[in-house]
Amino acid sequence: MTKLPDGFLWGGAVAAHQLEGGWQAGGKGVSIADVMTGGDNDTPRRITNGVLPDTNYPNHDAIDFYGHYKEDVKLLAKLGLKCFRTSIAWTRIFPNGDEVEPNEAGLQFYDNLFDELLKYHIQPIITLSHFEMPYHLVSEYGGWRNRKMIDFFTKFATVVFKRYKGKVKYWMTFNEINNQSGLLNEWALFTNSGIVAKPGENIARSMYQASHYELVASALAVQIGHNINPNFQIGSMVAAGPSYPVSPAPQDVMKAERSMQSTQWYTDVQCRGTYPAWLHRYFEREHFGLDITLADLDVLRAGTVDYIGFSYYASHAVKAAADEPDDYMSRAPENEVTNPTLSKSDWGWLIDPVGLRYILNWFTDRYDKPLFIVENGLGAFDRVEDGAIHDIYRIEYLRAHIEQMELAVAIDGVDLIGYTPWGIIDLVSAGTGQMDKRYGMIYVDKDDNGEGDLSRRKKDSFNWFKTVISTNGSKL
Ligand code: BG6
Repeated sequence: MTKLPDGFLWGGAVAAHQLEGGWQAGGKGVSIADVMTGGDNDTPRRITNGVLPDTNYPNHDAIDFYGHYKEDVKLLAKLGLKCFRTSIAWTRIFPNGDEVEPNEAGLQFYDNLFDELLKYHIQPIITLSHFEMPYHLVSEYGGWRNRKMIDFFTKFATVVFKRYKGKVKYWMTFNEINNQSGLLNEWALFTNSGIVAKPGENIARSMYQASHYELVASALAVQIGHNINPNFQIGSMVAAGPSYPVSPAPQDVMKAERSMQSTQWYTDVQCRGTYPAWLHRYFEREHFGLDITLADLDVLRAGTVDYIGFSYYASHAVKAAADEPDDYMSRAPENEVTNPTLSKSDWGWLIDPVGLRYILNWFTDRYDKPLFIVENGLGAFDRVEDGAIHDIYRIEYLRAHIEQMELAVAIDGVDLIGYTPWGIIDLVSAGTGQMDKRYGMIYVDKDDNGEGDLSRRKKDSFNWFKTVISTNGSKL
């Protein structure tokens, strides 16, 4: 007996900048992903001042989905996908971000892609901004520090909502909008908000200000989208890794609660339309003097999302410091503890399938909205042996997570729209810029040095997932 509803959206997820390549094709502008170098687990990606010569920028060419999309969609259709989550590269539509008119060649590319997907009855699921914005908006306006971004973003959203209103139903506004929360690391602030700290800048203030403008832009986009097509389902997209207390000590439990609050408050705003009380107090105590107007608060109330889209990769365990200050909110490295009950991926990410069931319940209890797991997966090294890739470790990871997802639906009554594992086809890692950190069920012949003929090949997980989809999750 299947445990999932009919019409459950089995799919795969990617993001424009991580697979398309064609960074200057069809009049595309430079995006923030185009100024990030390659790295690895030990070497962080560098953000360069514009595009420099003789520098490795893995997103420039990626896996050339731009040139291969027909062949790739055909493979996705063979896999039996019901939906395909990708994003629209803002820079294909508005190359600099502040143009008056959109770029027709960019709009046409997504028309072609969506038509190709729909030909095989694969629904496009679209993120408006997935770690990407025009670099010009960063260099000229300071990125999301600047309120003007709200207008640029809503204009972009309006254009694509109108253009694709008959082809796309499910939308998300900002990918992992909460990725920048608490962490305050350089990479996350840049990919979310186009911000590189200036000397002396209060970076926490900038992060909260940028987040506020993004939340207002997101709420406006929800209202604009519903006016264009009342059938649109417009969701949030957050990174959802639960924080567990390392021990039953009340201080550790409180620390875990703080950690959840500080990483998940974006969902409070996007689902309830209001900031949580503790955050108001925090803003006051810090004397941030944020630009939050009464009109903004009305917009937030009127633009709550239809569903919660989220990524789930790992859980975290946290420990209170001995002299924990009461306003300490981040999931800082010094508070992170390795959970001894869990194993790790090749990149050190903890593997916790039960955490997925936990977070599905947590979201449901708190917000009572439909949920959509729009990313989940295992980044791993794959080996091609006699032309085959036996990625049993990936199958085991996905199977264990799907089992927990099915329990959440069948036993706990969670309202779940679909499941789109991340990087269904190998692509450039967002965190490290690597190709060799692979998530796909389709292997792409390209390595971290850019070597390879870009040919595509099914991994063992491809046939396994095909059966999962065709049995609506009954046969794992
Ligand atoms: C999510 C992002 O954070 O995780 C994706 O939405 C990203 O863009 C994915 O690729 C996996 O992370 P990474 O760093 O392994 O690519």
